[in-house]
Amino acid sequence: MQVKTVVIAPFDDQKPGTSGLRKTTARFSEPGYLEAYVQAIWDGIGGVAGKALVLGGDGRFFNDHAAQVVLKVAAAGGAARIIVGKGAILSTPAASHLIRLRKADGGIILSASHNPGGLKGDVGVKYNGANGGPAPEAVTDRIHAATKTLTAYTIADAPDVDIDRLGETRLGDMIVEVVDPVTDYAALMERLFDFDAIAGLIAGGFRLRFDAMHAVTGPYAKVLLEDRLGAAPGSVVNATPLPDFGGGHPDPNPIWARELMETMMGPDAPDFGAASDGDGDRNMITGRGVYVTPSDSLAVIAANATNIPAFAGGLAGVARSMPTSAAVDRVAEALGIACHETPTGWKYFGSLLDAGRVTLCGEESAGTGSDHVREKDGLWAVLAWLNILARTGKSVADLMADHWARFGRNYYTRHDYEGVETDRAALVMDGLRAQLNDLPGRKLGALTVSAADDFAYTDPVDGSSATGQGIRIRFEGGARVVFRLSGTGTVGATLRVYLERLETDPAALALDPQEALAPVIAAAEDLAQIRAFTGREAPDVIT
Ligand code: G1P
Ligand code: ZN
Repeated sequence: MQVKTVVIAPFDDQKPGTSGLRKTTARFSEPGYLEAYVQAIWDGIGGVAGKALVLGGDGRFFNDHAAQVVLKVAAAGGAARIIVGKGAILSTPAASHLIRLRKADGGIILSASHNPGGLKGDVGVKYNGANGGPAPEAVTDRIHAATKTLTAYTIADAPDVDIDRLGETRLGDMIVEVVDPVTDYAALMERLFDFDAIAGLIAGGFRLRFDAMHAVTGPYAKVLLEDRLGAAPGSVVNATPLPDFGGGHPDPNPIWARELMETMMGPDAPDFGAASDGDGDRNMITGRGVYVTPSDSLAVIAANATNIPAFAGGLAGVARSMPTSAAVDRVAEALGIACHETPTGWKYFGSLLDAGRVTLCGEESAGTGSDHVREKDGLWAVLAWLNILARTGKSVADLMADHWARFGRNYYTRHDYEGVETDRAALVMDGLRAQLNDLPGRKLGALTVSAADDFAYTDPVDGSSATGQGIRIRFEGGARVVFRLSGTGTVGATLRVYLERLETDPAALALDPQEALAPVIAAAEDLAQIRAFTGREAPDVIT
């Protein structure tokens, strides 16, 4: 095998964000851009020589080329083995599982998650470590440092490897092992859940619809929901992964999964509806006439966990990202288990999961998962819900009503302002930071601020810390507003405003969330002056 050394000028915009490096397809297509980043990953992890890695992605445009680049830069670096999903396909949770199952040193996931794909869309590259989880900040910092000084990369000068055929081939001395993307993941799901109970529910006439949004989960959902659990053929819709996700925005929320929402809110709705995102780690849960927020979903799974065979012995503890609602905190309190509040991003759950401190975790951004892998897992959440519905015999609507009657309801919404000029978004955040010390005691309408800070976190296991993770303002009585800037966008800034209020009055548990939260929304605008600073009259996306 010939190895080529290519001299480059370092790229100045390769800082990994909340979840790996995400850039426009155009940027990633520039000569040497991807090659240099992959080389920087090897530098950041202490070299790839002799290592075994997993490789796969969400099937978006550019990924087939990107997979070949990773293989060739890995071969040049002396990697021993790359285990790659057939056609470079692996959902993010399936990749995480494969790293763990095969005891690989790590893996490369080619995905920009729910960001649109195609020539005008985005591309992403993420490195996961030997525990199957996203690289912690210490590692991403080293990768970033390497990108800034990199002056050359090395790459195998060889034809593309055939990764559409199962089995082993070689690229120089490196073994390329092509595996079926679904088999091992499906086997794991069968071990975790009560498939007999779910199959029984479905055989009894329970109807479901799963929207794969033309993204990676189609083949996984077909095997699990239709072939193994007996859902009617066609229950999985938009099941064929497409390089541009059919022109859609593969983010499972009521805005982007509108088609599913309309079906679920319409006449003759199925009993259960769900969707997943580009790379299969996010989920949306609905029932007939009811949408379940991700924060509530986490709380409901926690409260009903012992119905799931993998959790039969109870949960060790739970964790949620800071902006996620406190619904799960109330369940944890009732169960007498710890509830950890971590910064946004799945990487912060890794050490808690590895240490056995938590078995279940989630984020308000449609992420739910457990210690079975080190990523959030969309289909896992769907199966968890089906398992709970099958074992309790309740409908989604009844389950929610019973949950809120017992624990109260954390009304919750997130308002996103997208593509805001970066300096204007900074004005909003700086303005809030400047007020923090004076806020406690301040009255905003009927609400009184009880505490305000810029969230900082110290990991209780490894002592690592993260600061500047979002402005958190709490009000007396359990309401809260959080402001933070997105770390996954590729154009301008996205300002996220997270709004929450606890309601325990049995007569007020079925309100429209936007109405229930009106006083908190008004207080947030008062504090942040988003209209004045950004010129935006209303959020672009409300979830
Ligand atoms: C968003 C979500 C966050 C999630 C991440 C990756 O990050 O808010 O919870 O972990 O995507 O899926 P953000 O754009 O807010 O930085
Ligand atoms: Zn995703």
